[in-house]
Amino acid sequence: MTGVASLARQVEQAVGTAIGAVLPARRDADPLIRRSDRPGVDVQSNVALSLAGAAGRPPAQLAGQLADQLTAAPGAGPAAGTGPATALPAAVSVAGPGFLNVTFTDAALWGQVAARLADDRLGVDTPQAGVRTVVDYSSVNVAKQLHVGHLRSTVIGDALVRVLGFLGAEVIRENHLGDWGTQFGMLIQYLVEHPEARWQHDRLAAGTTAVAALDELYRAARAAFDADPAFAGRARKRVVALQSGDPDTLAAWREIVAESQHAFQQVYDRLGVLLTEADAAGESRYNDALPGVVDELVRQGIAVPSAGALCVFDPAFTGRDGAPVPLIVRKSDGGFGYAATDLATVRDRVGRERADRMLYVVDARQALHFRQVFAAARRAGWLPGTVDVEHVAFGAVLGADGRPYRTRDGGTALLSDLLDAAVTSARRVVRDKNPTMPDADADRIAELCGIAAVKYADLATSRQQDYRFDPDRMVAFTGNTGVYLLYAHTRVAAILRRAEPATGDGDAPPDPAVPVAPAERALILALDGFGAVVTEVGESLEPHRLCGYLYELARAFTAFYESCPVLGAAEPVRSNRLALCRLTRRTLAQGLTLLGLPAPDRL
Ligand code: ARG
Repeated sequence: MTGVASLARQVEQAVGTAIGAVLPARRDADPLIRRSDRPGVDVQSNVALSLAGAAGRPPAQLAGQLADQLTAAPGAGPAAGTGPATALPAAVSVAGPGFLNVTFTDAALWGQVAARLADDRLGVDTPQAGVRTVVDYSSVNVAKQLHVGHLRSTVIGDALVRVLGFLGAEVIRENHLGDWGTQFGMLIQYLVEHPEARWQHDRLAAGTTAVAALDELYRAARAAFDADPAFAGRARKRVVALQSGDPDTLAAWREIVAESQHAFQQVYDRLGVLLTEADAAGESRYNDALPGVVDELVRQGIAVPSAGALCVFDPAFTGRDGAPVPLIVRKSDGGFGYAATDLATVRDRVGRERADRMLYVVDARQALHFRQVFAAARRAGWLPGTVDVEHVAFGAVLGADGRPYRTRDGGTALLSDLLDAAVTSARRVVRDKNPTMPDADADRIAELCGIAAVKYADLATSRQQDYRFDPDRMVAFTGNTGVYLLYAHTRVAAILRRAEPATGDGDAPPDPAVPVAPAERALILALDGFGAVVTEVGESLEPHRLCGYLYELARAFTAFYESCPVLGAAEPVRSNRLALCRLTRRTLAQGLTLLGLPAPDRL
């Protein structure tokens, strides 16, 4: 399945062919194409400037030769054997010291709109076809609260899953739940001693969420653990019972995991991410494999004893004192830790799941951990060079004071608090705009806009950076916000609704003889870039590039709408503009979907 080639891509190919004809030795040179911001120029190539030295002629002369090739009619090749260059549907000229300027014909621009309207992939190829890609994301810890830090992994991971899937990858979603560990001793023991604290989601009092009940249990157990040494002792014994497979303890553990998952699912559903309970692939899954993993590391001489523990030392990872930082695969108390589990996970994902690509969407603070795990796995032979593995790191969510986001009283903020804050801000905006709107509608729109605003603000920041959580800013109707994009989509939808009440999203192709107005040209060229940006996100794993693109597209649409009347225009201009509206709407909607955002027709 190949999408329609973009105009920019067509120029790239044509310039490539022209280089092959003029300078055969450099036929593989990058044609150095980019969008031009000069008036009257659509695309520019700087290749003549970079190749002039090798060609031994002035750049302007080389550019002239390339331009001749680009405009030669098919069959009119300059020299026998070189073949004709692709004749571009464009005016090509040489400017300045040797720039090649390309300006598409109006017919070519409308032709591109028609081709895109007939292509349900909107010009996006499937370069990742068949690439088995495991995406480890969200990966929250069971029986702990979902806090602010989990937002980013969940939302960025969801966008990547969608983008990679659209690009053809065979995506395996894995929520690597922290569902095993010593904290369960305290929780299980607390439940044993306080049966009244036992809760099940289907029996919760109205108005209580499963997340809140879970949070309550965690807090109570923690308080008992910290305040009562005798309880702490019993909790530690409970850990041993869990690890040795005591049936009652295991049953209690299973219930806590199941109830936690139910609580997480409520948040995932509210966020509108694709994760389901079936995507859970928690740490406990690898539990039985840990002794074997560690034995193998020891057998290969990769893990060695150190102060009672078993560690991997790698000269590539040294601390400030120059000494290697150990990767602890077995602790001195005999327990296996986070690193052993991740090594077992790598081995399983490569060996059993046959992953071609493995992505870990995890906080940047774990960078060293992942570098060490990947390096140790390579040494052990569990991670062949053919598998592409990447820690997709992200920065922190900060409060208005520039420090990690906290609640007003300084506590750790729950993810649901953060969502509620954005929904509250959104409700204020909705109320300001529509004082008479019924409450139920205002609530529904505020929820939709508030959540979309949080997700978009998170995705629109360059992934590695920290960003400030500012709910009022996020829900603004102007600027690079999710609400602005949703709103832009509703405006296009409204035009189409008024224009074609009977047929809806009709499909009449534009008339190629209609002159293209400047704002139309800018919009068509913006639409032309969709495939390239989606492909780029699949490689860089940076959703903010798609956000930036959609924002520019929405702005190009706004500029078009302000200078080019649609419904009031005479035919055939009206039909052509409606075709542009249809393509804009579909591209915006597809882009929003890839980010995990809704594309409603009305707000
Ligand atoms: N549960 C971990 C945490 O909250 C994140 C797990 C990330 N995935 C992994 N394979 N280590 O820090």
